[in-house]
Amino acid sequence: MPALPGSLYRKRSIVNPKPLPQLNPPPRLLMGPGPVDVDPRVLRAMSLPMLGQFDPAFTQSMNQCMALYRQVFKTANHWTLMVDGTARAGTEAMLNSILSPGDRVLVPIFGRFGHLLCEIARRCRAEVISINTAWGTVFDPGQIETAIHTHRPKLLAVVQGDTSTTMAQPLDQIGPLCRRAGVFVYVDATASIAGMDLRTDEWQLDAVSAGLQKCLSGPPGIAPLTINQRLAEIIAARKHIEQGIRPADYAAAAGAVIQSNYLDLGMVMDYWSNQRLNHHTAATSMLYAAFESARLALEEGLDARFQRHRVIGAALAEGLAAMDLQLFGDQTRKMPNITGVHIPPGIDGEAVRATLIDDFGIEIGTSFGPLHGKIWRIGTMGYGARKRNVLLCLGALEAALRKHGFRAPPGAGVDTAMRHLEGAPA
Ligand SMILES: Cc1ncc(COP(=O)(O)O)c(C=O)c1O
Repeated sequence: MPALPGSLYRKRSIVNPKPLPQLNPPPRLLMGPGPVDVDPRVLRAMSLPMLGQFDPAFTQSMNQCMALYRQVFKTANHWTLMVDGTARAGTEAMLNSILSPGDRVLVPIFGRFGHLLCEIARRCRAEVISINTAWGTVFDPGQIETAIHTHRPKLLAVVQGDTSTTMAQPLDQIGPLCRRAGVFVYVDATASIAGMDLRTDEWQLDAVSAGLQKCLSGPPGIAPLTINQRLAEIIAARKHIEQGIRPADYAAAAGAVIQSNYLDLGMVMDYWSNQRLNHHTAATSMLYAAFESARLALEEGLDARFQRHRVIGAALAEGLAAMDLQLFGDQTRKMPNITGVHIPPGIDGEAVRATLIDDFGIEIGTSFGPLHGKIWRIGTMGYGARKRNVLLCLGALEAALRKHGFRAPPGAGVDTAMRHLEGAPA
C-alpha cells in the first residue's frame, strides 16, 4: 500500500478521530423499486445469536430454509438453497455454473436487468445473443420461440419482472417451449418473487434465483435459488473442489472449471448437502432473515399475498391516474408491485423526489437508461404493500408536485385510492 503523505498522518482527524455517534438512520417510507421496508419480524430474526456453520442447530435451519423456499418457488427441486450476496450474486452463480465458455445463451431484453444478464453471461465467456423490445413492453411467446429456433442456444436467460421498466414477462408458455426445443431456462425472479405468481415446476423452469429485498420484505444480501436435476447434473459435470478441502476419494470432473470460486454452485451445493463440505462462511444472520421472510410469505399464503400486491398496486395506479399523471408502459403487462409514472412535462423529477424525502420522509424511485429523467417508479412491495402507504404517498406527491409547479386535481389521488381500498386494513 503506498504510504500516506506525512501531512495526512499528522492531521488529528486521522490519527485520533473524534468518536462518531451511533448510527441513526432517518425514518423513511421506502416506496422505490427496492430495497423496501423490512418486516419487523425479519429484523428481529436477524438479531438472533450467531451459530457455528456446522452446528447441527444451524444446519437444521439450512434444511428448513430449503423446505421453505421450495414452497415459495413452487418446486420439488432438492437443490433449493441460498447464495450469500445480493440478488445478482444468485444470477452470477447460476450463469457461471451453467455456462461454459463458448456456450450460447439467448436473452430477451425488456429492461436494464436483461442487459445485466447479457453482461454477466459475457463475463462467463458465453456467446450472448439478445432480442429486444421497446422498454414498456414485453415479448410474445412466439417471438421467443422464433429466436430459439433461429439461434439454438443452450440456455434462455430471462427476467420475470424488470423493475427498470415495471413490466412482467409472462413465463407460463416459455418454459414448455424451451423444453420442447431442448433449451434450458433460467429466470431472474428477484423483483417478482412472492409478489406475483411463479410456478417453477409447472412452468418447466430449470433454474430460478431471487433476492429478499423486494416482495419478501427482507434486507438485500442473500439470494434464494432453485435448480432442477437436469441442471444439477450439468453443474456436477464441472465440479472442481478447491485444494485444501478435497476428500480422499476426490476426482475432478471432466467439464470446464467454473470461473468463480465464491459463486461455484458445485461447491456451494456440497455445503448445502449432507456432506457439509466447507466452502465460504455462511452469512448466518442473512439466513435467519431469509428464513423469516419465507415464513411470513407462507403464513400469509402466496395467493393472498399476490392478491394484496395486485389490489394495492392497482389502487396506487388509479390514484396516480386521477391526479392527471400518465402511467408508463403496457398496463396489461405491468408488475403488480411497482408502478411507473411519467414525470409531467416541464417538472424537475429529481426536485420532486427531493421534496418527498426532505419533507415527508418518503422515497420513490428514479429511472435508468432511456427512461432516465422521464419516469418515476413507485414500489408497493411486501411489508410496504399496504393502504396507508399508498394514501400517504399520493397525498405527499400531490403536495410535492404543487410545490414544483404541477397542479393535480386537489384530493383526487387520495380519494380515488381510498375508494378503491374501502374496507381494506390500513
Ligand atoms: C429484476 C432484478 N434483477 C436483479 C436485480 C439486482 O439485484 P441486487 O441489486 O440485489 O444485486 C434487481 C434489483 O433491483 C432486479 O430488480
